[in-house]
Amino acid sequence: MEREKKEKRYSRLHGQISELLRSRDYPVARMATVAAVLHHKMEYFFWTGFYLLEDGELIVGPYQGPVACILLEKDKGVCWAGINQAKTIVVPDVHKFPGHIACDARSNSEIVVPLRTAEGKVFGVLDVDSKDSGAFDETDAIWLEKIVALI
Ligand code: SME
Repeated sequence: MEREKKEKRYSRLHGQISELLRSRDYPVARMATVAAVLHHKMEYFFWTGFYLLEDGELIVGPYQGPVACILLEKDKGVCWAGINQAKTIVVPDVHKFPGHIACDARSNSEIVVPLRTAEGKVFGVLDVDSKDSGAFDETDAIWLEKIVALI
């Protein structure tokens, strides 16, 4: 998607999501809402969802798209890289990412954005896959970070 169009789309979605989440205090419901809005409004999103840390394991949370792995092998793949490095990871070609976990062979690029508590502790990630190569860039990173901050 062209940069300017992407920027406008995210700006609008950020507003819609803020409105939808207003005074709804249930994290799972908030994550489900974020996944549904993003997945259905961004045509290049093929899998959109959350992986959450539970007792040192990374377990799937609310998501939209094809069935995904329930549990991710520790310290392997893009989601664990996002947790361990506590930063957003943009992967233009998943086939070149060492240890990438392919829950669906149709994914070609990916972005992972850490979720933080109010105290700054990472408790999970937003993970988005695309069938397109190089689908995600700095604009996705900036806006998805703003959107997960609403959770
Ligand atoms: N590709 C991810 C696994 C999750 S699926 O993309 C839904 C990873 O390497 O961590």
